[in-house]
Amino acid sequence: MTNICVVGTGYVGLVTGTCLAEMGHTVWCVDINEDKINRLNRGETPIYEAGLDELLHRNQGVKRLFFSNQLSVGLAQAEVVFLAINTPSSESGDADLSYLSAAVDTIVTHCDTHVGALRFLVIKSTVPVGTGAKIQQRLLPYGISVISNPEFLREGQAVQDALYPNRIVVGVNHVDAEKMMRRLYHGYVCRGVPLVVTTVPTSELIKYAANSFLATKISFINEMAMLCEAVGADVLDVAHAIGLDQRIGPHFLSPGPGFGGSCFPKDIQALQYTAKEKGVDLHVLQAVNQVNRRQREWVIRKVTSVVPRPCTIAVLGLAFKAGTDDMRDAPALTILPALLKLGYSIRAYDPVAMEMAKGFLGHDITYCEGVTATLIGSDVALILTEWDEFVTYSMADIKQHLTQPMVIDCRNILNRQLASDLGLTIIGIGRGI
Ligand SMILES: NC(=O)c1ccc[n+]([C@@H]2O[C@H](COP(=O)([O-])OP(=O)(O)OC[C@H]3O[C@@H](n4cnc5c(N)ncnc54)[C@H](O)[C@@H]3O)[C@@H](O)[C@H]2O)c1
Repeated sequence: MTNICVVGTGYVGLVTGTCLAEMGHTVWCVDINEDKINRLNRGETPIYEAGLDELLHRNQGVKRLFFSNQLSVGLAQAEVVFLAINTPSSESGDADLSYLSAAVDTIVTHCDTHVGALRFLVIKSTVPVGTGAKIQQRLLPYGISVISNPEFLREGQAVQDALYPNRIVVGVNHVDAEKMMRRLYHGYVCRGVPLVVTTVPTSELIKYAANSFLATKISFINEMAMLCEAVGADVLDVAHAIGLDQRIGPHFLSPGPGFGGSCFPKDIQALQYTAKEKGVDLHVLQAVNQVNRRQREWVIRKVTSVVPRPCTIAVLGLAFKAGTDDMRDAPALTILPALLKLGYSIRAYDPVAMEMAKGFLGHDITYCEGVTATLIGSDVALILTEWDEFVTYSMADIKQHLTQPMVIDCRNILNRQLASDLGLTIIGIGRGI
């Protein structure tokens, strides 16, 4: 089993570190955020991910998983260091690699002063093509081989995805690096998980290509939804029927308020930046972004076209998708401030993202405890996130609590026939009124 240090204990690092410990490796997770590390050492989980709590406690309990805010502590025994550090958008649209570079600086300083076991640095963060090669230059004097191993997990299903990935992609520039990664992921390969071994730049690009393609599917179906409303078609039937074609597949064909989160928007921008630098125009991705922005505006227009002002709107769901408390680039961050500005009042609820949301959206919104408390005192409802709790909530109660029995269902999760029988109006996306 391998001694591993994971640097960055966010959505990716914490899940990766925990799952590597679950596979039997000894893992130190390091983060500069002291509060996060203190909470983890107290047995608290700083993010919401289904199944993570249990896995974390189990591996802490059997002393395979440790946390520190000191990189030198994490590196002391490590043969492999994983970087799972945030790479947000910079002002220019390129990936901001300053956090990642700071960590590499600390690793170099550590190597200057300690003779350790460190031989491999694995980049899990999403980084522009060429980043691995630059880091490799810095680490050559220490005999450390740089590996690209992009992460494809989905927030909300991160533990499941990390334990049972569709594939593992590894970019290497040395045969020893490939051997090490094969050893590290042996348990996965034995279960039949494909391991794609390629060069470092190809691996870096695979991650951007994957996210760009998924975002393209979402923008495509959102555009179809708009057309469906114009021609009187039902986008859910369109999505279902085209998704049955194996060349298309059923996933990522759910129309909604546009994609968000910490990855798609920033990764598309970063890929466009890289392409522009190389003199290549990415026309499809430009359109994907435009459609995504328009989708949020479309939701705002939908609301203003059916809800008079002033009115109070019960907003159900704030996170960018169900299963996570991540608010980064969530549609709610565009839609809610616009609705406030237009003169609506907002009562809002999310099953897990309330604390995160307050930090992003401020105090002009009334945050409520539960669906019922949100609906009482509201005129109409607006569903932004597809939480199960909203699907199973009684539609008769929705009708009873709202002063105007109408739901703008941006995720198409409510049954329109049942609602209609109850006298509740549902306005979906791509389905007409
Ligand atoms: N979130 C996802 O769903 C997802 C999926 C695949 C890939 N990724 C990529 O993985 C990377 C990490 O994403 P995330 O969502 O986990 O980010 P995050 O913001 O949740 O976590 C990053 C962590 O790194 C820590 N950090 C920053 N600088 C550090 C340093 N010098 N030393 C130690 N710790 C440091 C931060 O404090 C933070 O806790 C990004 O490149 C992202 O694009 C994310």
